[in-house]
Amino acid sequence: MRTLSIAIILAICTFAIPGFAQDLPDGEGKAVVVKQCTGCHGAENFVDKKKDKDGWKRTVDTMIAYGADINDADAEVILTYLTKNFGKSEFSTKVKSGAH
Ligand code: HEC
Repeated sequence: MRTLSIAIILAICTFAIPGFAQDLPDGEGKAVVVKQCTGCHGAENFVDKKKDKDGWKRTVDTMIAYGADINDADAEVILTYLTKNFGKSEFSTKVKSGAH
């Protein structure tokens, strides 16, 4: 029964229903983050985190291992958004001034 519930939850995740975005700051990439990152859990899982780009990359890789269907282009958009809005402070300043 438990396995079945997990399977159902994972199936729902595939359709990533937006609706938990109230805490996410506006900005480029927000729509992608809402679509890809709020299907399995709410945005509250990451809005209180501060990580540099490597840290967020590890998180996104972990989510892909959990079953998130994120291609390389979306991953880059997500990483840029997360690093800019939820980065370590000195790093996010750098990203704002000349992101690449
Ligand atoms: C396939 C489902 C799924 C998707 C899609 C998903 N996650 Fe997760 N996420 C999980 C699971 C499962 C956990 C671990 C249990 C929990 O904390 O809810 C988790 C936990 C987390 C955590 C807390 C653990 C940590 O490493 O700090 C963060 C942050 C996180 N997710 C961020 C994201 C981001 C950012 C995205 C979009 C790139 C995302 N998640 C998309 C399933 C998913």
